[in-house]
Amino acid sequence: MSKKIAILTSGGDCAGLNAVIRAITHRAHKLGWEAIGLENGTAGILEDPPRVRALKPGDFGGTLMRQGGTILGTTNSKNPFQYEMPNGEIKDRSDEIIAAFKALEIDAIIGIGGDGSFAILNKLAEQGGLNLVGIPKTIDNDLDMTDFSVGFDTAVAVATEALDRLQPTAASHDRVMLLEVMGRDAGHIALTAGIAGGVDIILIPEIPYNVESIAKKIAAVKESGRNFALVIVSEAVKTPGGEKLEVVYHGGEKRYGGIAEYLGPKVAEATGFETRVTVLGHVQRGGSPTYNDRLLASAFGVKAVELVNEGKFGRMVAWQDHNVVDVPIEDAIKRCRTVGPDDMLMHTARSLGISFGDE
Ligand code: F6P
Repeated sequence: MSKKIAILTSGGDCAGLNAVIRAITHRAHKLGWEAIGLENGTAGILEDPPRVRALKPGDFGGTLMRQGGTILGTTNSKNPFQYEMPNGEIKDRSDEIIAAFKALEIDAIIGIGGDGSFAILNKLAEQGGLNLVGIPKTIDNDLDMTDFSVGFDTAVAVATEALDRLQPTAASHDRVMLLEVMGRDAGHIALTAGIAGGVDIILIPEIPYNVESIAKKIAAVKESGRNFALVIVSEAVKTPGGEKLEVVYHGGEKRYGGIAEYLGPKVAEATGFETRVTVLGHVQRGGSPTYNDRLLASAFGVKAVELVNEGKFGRMVAWQDHNVVDVPIEDAIKRCRTVGPDDMLMHTARSLGISFGDE
């Protein structure tokens, strides 16, 4: 009987997940492993019957790798250690999940996730003696020890395209456009898309800023003879006074949001320019993956199965210096990889005259 690999996607979705699932399925079948998909992260396995499906290379039919989302579904709010039951009670269901993995005779799990998902999956694996390999995915690109995670490149491409679309309308109306992008506590999307999209100002959570500096930069732009300016701001940027802005959803769930709306009128007042705000939101997570995300997804999927086949567990595949390597999962989630002061792209941006609102 062939051995079984279970695949699950966990945490927020992003473009490229189906390409990862496809790559795992292909490599698994080549190496004589059976691949099954667990639906809805670890939550689906708790259902009766558990939500699992067989995966075969033929299922992908040349189309799924091009599609955003995840055919397996995902969740970023069902922590098995603090699971909210229908009656509102919070319960530790980790033992039930481990028992369900064992009942399904799963020999290895490939989890496609970010830092939060890996912290949970790693804990489950240690507690239940499960064989886990991780594949990094997050538009935030904040996992440590990998240059890139699946989904980041597509998010940056979407943000760059948004700037390309904002520029002509900004120029037509003599306006300052503020674009708010995702990224949680890391400013990678704003920094990368800001450079690629030719902005004047990048605001990221890693660098304190003030409105006077923003106004000074926009005044310089005006003096140079240009009638518009572009500003990209990362969602976790605080107010100049240090207040964290969040949106509270039904049930009390909080997400970053609101900084561009907060700053828009302040920038208008300080510069005399009309300003408008665009919040890109989940558009950054959807749509067809870029070629880079498809390549990363394919290389990661293949390598993850090879690790399973070699019996190397507790590892995360990672992209380092144009090579796929593997690192301990626990090391990759020790810290959130934010934009460092010595980041090469910081130097690039400053050299191009882009302001971070700090001088
Ligand atoms: O971590 C990915 C991410 O898209 C963040 O950039 C963002 O802050 C968050 O997830 C949004 O979460 P949700 O999909 O729950 O609104």
